[in-house]
Amino acid sequence: MDNRKLILFIATSLDGYIATKEEKLDWLFEVDGEGDNGFARFYETVDTVVMGRRTFDWVNQEVVDYPYQDKSSYVFTRSNERSHEHAVFLNDHVGTVMRDLKQQKGKSIWLIGGGELLYTCLKERLVDEVILTVAPKLIGKGIPLFREGFDQIDLTLKHVHTFNQFVELHYVVDQKA
Ligand SMILES: NC(=O)c1ccc[n+]([C@@H]2O[C@H](COP(=O)([O-])OP(=O)(O)OC[C@H]3O[C@@H](n4cnc5c(N)ncnc54)[C@H](OP(=O)(O)O)[C@@H]3O)[C@@H](O)[C@H]2O)c1
Repeated sequence: MDNRKLILFIATSLDGYIATKEEKLDWLFEVDGEGDNGFARFYETVDTVVMGRRTFDWVNQEVVDYPYQDKSSYVFTRSNERSHEHAVFLNDHVGTVMRDLKQQKGKSIWLIGGGELLYTCLKERLVDEVILTVAPKLIGKGIPLFREGFDQIDLTLKHVHTFNQFVELHYVVDQKA
């Protein structure tokens, strides 16, 4: 049986940041997109979401109701696991958990972010697809999408789609022979 896919679907500034240092995304929300910028179409393809603890905290401070209640949610932390009605906190080894999740039956898994959890996933070669929604902003500093230090990963471009001012780049990670 083929493993199900771990897909990074994330918005980034043109200079590669996912938020300001103060964890603000105003620069992103002020861009003129088109409809939901492909979100619903992507969301339909996943049944599981994974994220770092800081992204989880950010999501929960932005909205009243947890937005991914219809999916299985996993939050990685190196601290004490918390309990939450709609999310499972894990302080286990990311690679072990992800490989286990990928072997389960189901739809794809959305790697929501942020950059720190992504770094481990890239280092452990867990990511199967990368979908970047690029905003026409150079924000100069902030929380980087890609941290330095993982080994080279080759990808193949599958689609490019524009949503007004956004460009969506869809890549599939080349599997090493
Ligand atoms: N532009 C976008 O589309 C987008 C998408 C997602 C997030 N964001 C933004 O990104 C920011 C957060 O990103 P971030 O890079 O700072 O943090 P992050 O990756 O979301 O979370 C970091 C935290 O996750 C846990 N963690 C990370 N790697 C781990 C590992 N290998 N094993 C166990 N636990 C691990 C740790 O939690 P503990 O500290 O609890 O140990 C760590 O402090 C937020 O501002 C959010 O708004 C933007």
